[in-house]
Amino acid sequence: MKESLTTKTDLMKTPEHYRESHNYSVAPGKRTVRLSMPRPVPLLSSMLFLLAMAACSSDSGNPVAPGPGSPPDVEGARLAFERNQKLARGINLGNALEAPNEGDWGVVLQQWFFDKIAEAGFTAVRIPVRWSGHAASGPPYQLDQVFLARVRWAVDNALERNLMVVLNMHHYEEIMQDPRAHEQRFLAIWQQVAEAFKSYPGELIFEPLNEPNNAMTAGIWNQYLAEAIVTVRASNPGRTILAGPANWNNINALPDLRLPEDDRNIIVSVHYYEPFRFTHQGASWVSGSEAWRGTTWLGNSTQRLSVTAALTAAANWALEKDRPLHLGEFGAIIEADMDSRATWTGFVTESAESLGLSWSYWDFCANFAVYDKRRDTWHTPILNALLRPDTDASKLSLAWK
Ligand code: BGC
Repeated sequence: MKESLTTKTDLMKTPEHYRESHNYSVAPGKRTVRLSMPRPVPLLSSMLFLLAMAACSSDSGNPVAPGPGSPPDVEGARLAFERNQKLARGINLGNALEAPNEGDWGVVLQQWFFDKIAEAGFTAVRIPVRWSGHAASGPPYQLDQVFLARVRWAVDNALERNLMVVLNMHHYEEIMQDPRAHEQRFLAIWQQVAEAFKSYPGELIFEPLNEPNNAMTAGIWNQYLAEAIVTVRASNPGRTILAGPANWNNINALPDLRLPEDDRNIIVSVHYYEPFRFTHQGASWVSGSEAWRGTTWLGNSTQRLSVTAALTAAANWALEKDRPLHLGEFGAIIEADMDSRATWTGFVTESAESLGLSWSYWDFCANFAVYDKRRDTWHTPILNALLRPDTDASKLSLAWK
């Protein structure tokens, strides 16, 4: 497992990347409630909604207005909510195809990964892919066809086992440093990926960019996302798209996300790794994290409240915007003690589900593993925390039950 840590030097997250305080605003408006999406925790919801509205405004700008008189995208909305229900409980196949080269970070995808994941009861995989490392640097930015075939192999394996698939673009570090220099390349890569998978079923979902950060500010990201959606729609008019906010898809950054109003076939995604000092203790790619070793998470009321507050605020945003919501990454590193990992994972999962969110745990068998590749067995406490076999399913307000 550790072999993957040392080579992962291009990722330098700091706690500041996961700002807890924020200055975001939610535009006031009529709240709508979809039957397919449970209401958030009533106790917190109104308080948080008011707090969010009271916060300062952002300058992220560039909203994409609906075309004048364009009919509401009823079919798109139906597809997005339905597919989010099917996404349900997913696993991120981390550290494989988003490494500079598959295997560099200790994970080479195997057919049996998909068997294990499906047999355990998960319903989806998210496949992080470093497309930018496998495309020409100049126009027309041709994708490496061998790499494309390898990604196709992974997607096929998941679909054959009835797993939904989120296929993303991961670790495009250069675009985070200099967005303008990479805008055309970003779009050209999506044009090719979309073309390659255009005949695939609706169980395949595209996610244009993982964790926009750095110079990819909210304003720029909102614009590029809109452009990527148009690019994808040219060959995949009915494809569901998954997208999260700038600032590393941080759950608190959601109010800065702007989506094309007239395209409803979109699932919104957020990432949650709080408290960061607990989930990333000893992470080789996070400076200062050595000092956090030994941080526990026992689930006292203050700790639980901060999880539900963040998730409830996000669920309220989704209700307000009438968009389905997915928790695209969450997880606690294997360096943390197992009891804390399991307690945190169980609480986050349960809270997300009770608010109607689907989720994808980070990750299968790498730094945040639910599966112990060396011993060839599940980390049972994490597996049980995620799937909670003892739960009376009929008592959960899951939209997909
Ligand atoms: C990154 C991973 C990292 C994880 C937790 C993901 O978005 O791609 O490399 O391990 O976040 O920090």
